[in-house]
Amino acid sequence: MTRTSGNIKHVASPLARQTLLDGSLTRPVAGGHPMRLLPWLQVVKIGGRSIMDRGRDAIVPVVEELRRLLPEHRLLILTGAGIRARHLYGVGLDLGLPAGSLAPLAASEAGQNGHILAALLALEGVSYVEHPTIANQLAIHLSAARAVVGSAFPPYHHHEFPHARIPMHRADVGAFLIADALGAAGLTLVEDVDGIYTDDPNGPEGSRARLLRDVRHTELAAHAGPLPVDRALPEVMANAQHLRQVQLINGLVPGRLTAALRGEHVGTFIRSGVDAA
Ligand SMILES: Nc1ncnc2c1ncn2[C@@H]1O[C@H](COP(=O)(O)OP(=O)(O)OP(=O)(O)O)[C@@H](O)[C@H]1O
Ligand SMILES: [Mg+2]
Repeated sequence: MTRTSGNIKHVASPLARQTLLDGSLTRPVAGGHPMRLLPWLQVVKIGGRSIMDRGRDAIVPVVEELRRLLPEHRLLILTGAGIRARHLYGVGLDLGLPAGSLAPLAASEAGQNGHILAALLALEGVSYVEHPTIANQLAIHLSAARAVVGSAFPPYHHHEFPHARIPMHRADVGAFLIADALGAAGLTLVEDVDGIYTDDPNGPEGSRARLLRDVRHTELAAHAGPLPVDRALPEVMANAQHLRQVQLINGLVPGRLTAALRGEHVGTFIRSGVDAA
């Protein structure tokens, strides 16, 4: 890739002479499929509101199940933010804070939940790690321990898109982006419902809500009613590189997480845009 003329060394780059905005020019170079960095990794997102906010009664059994899974899987456990972030949104929005100021504050609440989980799994060598460590040193951490815990929030922070006043890229999006970027074996979203329903099963129309066992990201994007996942999740799933699906399960039912990590269909599968071929 190098050429020498006189004493000057020229470094040839296949993208040097063209705009990065022309797909027909970049495709021969950038059109290949990315490698899977950690294909054995299982990513598990523990709901902030649905699991962590319930305290001991919900958290202890989930931690016990995670502990029993450690010999079988290597885990990146990510936590959502829950009620403290909702309170923070309320105060921040009332004061007029922009989405980019609210996002890192909410992310720190997700981190608090992560610290709690990591403390409960510390005996197993599990610790809480910050985003730069997840980005650069996850492999060495998972060589030393069977699991690590981190915040599920993506690091958009002050660069959060200003589509809405509440940050649009929250814990589900963050968990998906990191799982897909690492080429993980799977992502499981752990909540307090059996899956995604046609309507909120705990809402006023709950009695009419029907469980959707299998949905495509496009159907989710078109769903008009409330959802138990970030509205931006189907959007990022449309552009997935590795993960064909995510499963949302009820972590309050013992054994569901174990079954999900073994590939069993025990909740709602959300299918991504990755070609099933
Ligand atoms: N269509 C739906 N299907 C299933 N649950 C729904 C639906 N719409 C709303 N919900 C509600 O969403 C709740 C879960 O809330 P949410 O997704 O905010 O929690 P969480 O994922 O734990 O939070 P966080 O994103 O902070 O981690 C469920 O208990 C359920 O009542
Ligand atoms: Mg949720």
